[in-house]
Amino acid sequence: MAEIGTDIERAASLLTQGELVAIPTETVYGLAGNALNVEAVAKIFAAKNRPQFDPLIVHIPALSFAKNYVTEIPKKAERLAQLFWPGPLTLVLEKKDDTIPALVTSGLKTVGFRCPDHPLTRKLLATLPFPVAAPSANPFGYVSPTTPEHVNEQLGNKIGYILDGGTCTIGIESTIVGFEGGEPVVLRLGGLSLERIEAVTGKLKVQTHSTSNPLAPGQLKSHYAPGKPLKLGTLEELLQEYPAHDSGILSFSRDFNSPYQRILSPSRNMEEAARNLFQFLRDFDKMPIDIILAELLPEEGLGRAINDRLKRAAAVDNS
Ligand code: TXA
Ligand code: MG
Repeated sequence: MAEIGTDIERAASLLTQGELVAIPTETVYGLAGNALNVEAVAKIFAAKNRPQFDPLIVHIPALSFAKNYVTEIPKKAERLAQLFWPGPLTLVLEKKDDTIPALVTSGLKTVGFRCPDHPLTRKLLATLPFPVAAPSANPFGYVSPTTPEHVNEQLGNKIGYILDGGTCTIGIESTIVGFEGGEPVVLRLGGLSLERIEAVTGKLKVQTHSTSNPLAPGQLKSHYAPGKPLKLGTLEELLQEYPAHDSGILSFSRDFNSPYQRILSPSRNMEEAARNLFQFLRDFDKMPIDIILAELLPEEGLGRAINDRLKRAAAVDNS
């Protein structure tokens, strides 16, 4: 198991030596390594068992730190960073050659940057002379971690240190925005709602479907999956098909009076639902049930990102 603590200097010194450290962010915990050190980046892929076609997000303390690594920063990217950084938004920008290693970006001509909003990680990033590559700190394809314990359970034997920043306050991965001819395109729904971005940019293209050679492999249809099969639908109907005593029930707000249920938000608050989602999916893995039955939330606010994760979890064949 890894050591868990709040020692920023220790985290910085391990990262400087090319070792991996799990870091807290407001979205989910990241598995961090020096983004300019190819050996450190290779360790990230190995620890997660992550295919090399899936690019990593690079974490920086402010947009000015991206300038050395990109050809240009579109006006609208600058505006979004001004308004939403630090925060749950990743900006995919055109990469300058020979800066960020190709392994980080899976050979793409672009690189995703994010300025996370967590006091410990902000302090850590500000002390480092290099940016930090950090995917979510979970084995590839599994649910993202929102507590230090989640990281320790799954990757504890593969990393040196877990920087303990408590439970993630947003609980779902960042929204990813790329640019086509200067115009923003949403590549992954996440912790910053579409409504909040569109209030600034106007109506946006959302391009989050999977392809065989995905531009944003977080968009692989089957992803973010718990260890048990998950069925989506109307809970009343699903409960006729699957026996309640063998089923976990994930509802938005309703109480089904089952010992194996989790209610995302009794008051139908999307932020609370997002914060609970990944913890609840992990809870089901520990219950004596065979299957998880879940309903979609209203397609608004963070409900969109939650629904996206539920659909991807349901697309996995766990048999
Ligand atoms: O909230 C988050 O974004 C968390 C925390 C740790 O920052 N990180 C995260 O990383 O969710 P990860 O590796 O689980 O997801 C990264 C996704 C990739 O799967 C891919 O979809 C997208 O980011 N991505 C990264 N670089 C990209 C690029 N150059 N072009 C398109 N998509 C990119
Ligand atoms: Mg991930």
